[in-house]
Amino acid sequence: MHLSIVIPTFNERENVRTITRRIHKALEGVDEPYEIWFIDDSRDDTPQVLAELAQSDPRVHYVHREGGRGLATAVVEGFRRSRGRYIVVMDADLQHPPELLPTILSRLNEGIDIVIPSRFVPGGSDGGLNVFRKWVSWTARTIGRLAVRRLRGISDCTGGYFGLRRDVIDGVELDPIGWKILMEVLVKGRYETVHEIPYAFVAREAGESKMSLAEQWNYLRHVARLVWSSPEDRRFYVYCMVGSLGVVVNTAVMSLLLYGLHLHATLSSVIASLVAMAHNFLWNDRVTWRAHAHPVRWRRALQAPLFALVSASGIAVTALFVQLFLWLHWPPLIGQWTGIVVATGWTFTANNRWTWTP
Ligand code: GDD
Ligand code: MN
Repeated sequence: MHLSIVIPTFNERENVRTITRRIHKALEGVDEPYEIWFIDDSRDDTPQVLAELAQSDPRVHYVHREGGRGLATAVVEGFRRSRGRYIVVMDADLQHPPELLPTILSRLNEGIDIVIPSRFVPGGSDGGLNVFRKWVSWTARTIGRLAVRRLRGISDCTGGYFGLRRDVIDGVELDPIGWKILMEVLVKGRYETVHEIPYAFVAREAGESKMSLAEQWNYLRHVARLVWSSPEDRRFYVYCMVGSLGVVVNTAVMSLLLYGLHLHATLSSVIASLVAMAHNFLWNDRVTWRAHAHPVRWRRALQAPLFALVSASGIAVTALFVQLFLWLHWPPLIGQWTGIVVATGWTFTANNRWTWTP
């Protein structure tokens, strides 16, 4: 089998015949064999419609699952059942135009690992969503792309229309929650090349959207799980936790020296900062970058001084922001917070590049 088209369905009785017809029409000029797999969780009579369709059309297959188990797991089920060398996933409601299939297929044939029709590259459009849904969708995408590095270069990582070589997911354990199967594939899959091609996401003609508040919550849980499952993303959050713990240590030492031992405030401050820095270094060395101890001895000895240097540059960056805010007559405390956020990003990148990673 050359191509499998996987379509999740939930109460799509008006749409499954039409989409099948349009897929056949779109693929008329294509010589390679293809199959269509509907993975259905419907509570209406969609399964009966699918049964008739599958009987009259040898290229159509379907499974019906009882108890409504969700969009993303339906697609995983489709991956498992289908046999094509290439797979395209799309919605049943014609919001994903089947006319794009030959283009997707030819990109896959050329050797591109993942092909994503995108609403957000030049030529694409997002007309099928109302303003509120657009805003929710933008927010979700931004959260995902900030949190997960492998999603950063993809403009439409939350869409439900994409094609891939089966190799990308073969033997990969996919464990998505909710809807965003593409994000799961992008984070866990084995691939080198991703291409986005523009398309217009059109309005739904029949039936209604099943997007809900519960799915938004599932989305956040899914992003958290993806972050945790990818060491390169997890590292940044562990780094932030170590830094926060460092602030607690800093405050404790400062209080002890200042109020307990009655040392001079400046001296107490410097000692407290040095202790916190040592504390942060140790945790980062043992936990955050555990797998990254430099193999060369003398280079490993440079790690602590490098860390101190990077930390000092972070303090300087923060101070610059306070200075900037003073010039602008903005509250310096907000400048300090902004500075801390920027410095955290910068020191993480610097430590990741120079201090630990060889
Ligand atoms: N099997 C199964 N189980 N299918 C489901 C389920 C489910 O629980 N929930 C929804 N589906 C199917 C629908 O029948 C449809 O074919 C497809 O998944 C998308 O559902 P819609 O309800 O039409 O979602 P939408 O239009 O609001 O959003 C879609 O398009 C966006 C743009 O690409 C989704 O694909 C979004 O993830 C996507 O961002
Ligand atoms: Mn839809």
